[in-house]
Amino acid sequence: MTTSGLTGITAGASAVSTVGKAGVGLTYRGYSITDLAAQSTFEEVAYLLIYGKLPGQQQLDAYRKKLAGLRTLPDPLKSLLEAIPASAHPMDVLRTGTSFLGTLEPEGEGGRTAASVGDRLTACFGSMLAYWYRFHSRRERIDTESDDDTVAGHFLDLISGRPANSLKRDALDATLVLYAEHEFNASTFTARVITSTLSDTYSAIAGGIGALRGPLHGGANEAAMELVSSFDSPQDAEKSLLHMLKARRLIMGFGHRVYKDGDPRSPIVKEWARRLSEADGNTSYYDISERIEEVMMREKGMFPNLDFYAATAYHMCGIPTAMFTPVFVIARTSGWTAHVIEQRGDNKLIRPLADYTGPEPREYVAIAERG
Ligand code: COA
Repeated sequence: MTTSGLTGITAGASAVSTVGKAGVGLTYRGYSITDLAAQSTFEEVAYLLIYGKLPGQQQLDAYRKKLAGLRTLPDPLKSLLEAIPASAHPMDVLRTGTSFLGTLEPEGEGGRTAASVGDRLTACFGSMLAYWYRFHSRRERIDTESDDDTVAGHFLDLISGRPANSLKRDALDATLVLYAEHEFNASTFTARVITSTLSDTYSAIAGGIGALRGPLHGGANEAAMELVSSFDSPQDAEKSLLHMLKARRLIMGFGHRVYKDGDPRSPIVKEWARRLSEADGNTSYYDISERIEEVMMREKGMFPNLDFYAATAYHMCGIPTAMFTPVFVIARTSGWTAHVIEQRGDNKLIRPLADYTGPEPREYVAIAERG
């Protein structure tokens, strides 16, 4: 029997997270996402995912310091970033940068493990994005260090060229926690398939980035921003949305393969979007988003997923729209790394079967006799 898109199929075991589990919901290594988003920083969560337990204060301080020490980009990588066109999508910048770094700092050499590759990429993805972005938009060759020892603050500092305010940094940090892990989603499953062939962590993460790029997965946060910003007002949004639904168009940032009664991450990111918008004195995208949410519930019984309000939150943080999905990559690298480690711990090549639907066996036709 085939199942379209592997819907409802359990494709393996994992101790990393639960998604939509009855009575439990979304947890990372047993901790509820609500508790983690309210009380932990992204670095604590990355440590939890990659190393299996929440760090104590000293471990956390050491881990932050370690990540801050891994932000530097090698000169050949800077040259590569300068050579990538300004018109490239930043997801492709990260995919290419990951692949290239894998040639400069290969796993298995210099004691590099999956965990250390995951840490290195988590720490330097913000540097890669900002170096490429500032070089092409402002002709600057930036120093990729910053005084902020958090992943969120480092990214905001580098992208804008000035220290981030604490509300924006905390908002981004909380969304990194929300985006860090989500069981066997398409990109994580891709990373696990690659790992199952005994390939390296850079390949698994580059593959994960490729899968995350699409608008049915991570690319939905960028697509949701395009939708929200295409409307002038909540009234305009309602009118246009009704037309879109009538035309059976997909509304980006709504629906989910696993959650059928709501995405537990959505109320948390919605609250950050509201706080950021009110602090900025500009709630227009937030108001439009709320109206879209109301219409989708009324007309389709559908709820927003994490990507929908992440769009407004990231916009209010001053993050360029094309960088929304790359920010998701920064967060999810910790989850992908945890799955690479887990897959290797009990590996079996992932190789399913297909139901054949092609022609019956037939006679070979020599080239001279083909029509
Ligand atoms: N807008 C409008 N209709 C939607 C929809 C959306 N965002 N998501 C699903 N639907 C509709 C489908 O058209 C389908 O209708 P039908 O039965 O009349 O054909 C029905 O709901 C079931 O959807 P289906 O495509 O089978 O669900 P899925 O599990 O395969 O897809 C998603 C899940 C996430 C891919 C899908 O909801 C989607 O494309 N959402 C928009 C992209 C997005 O936000 N992705 C981020 C996910 S976290």
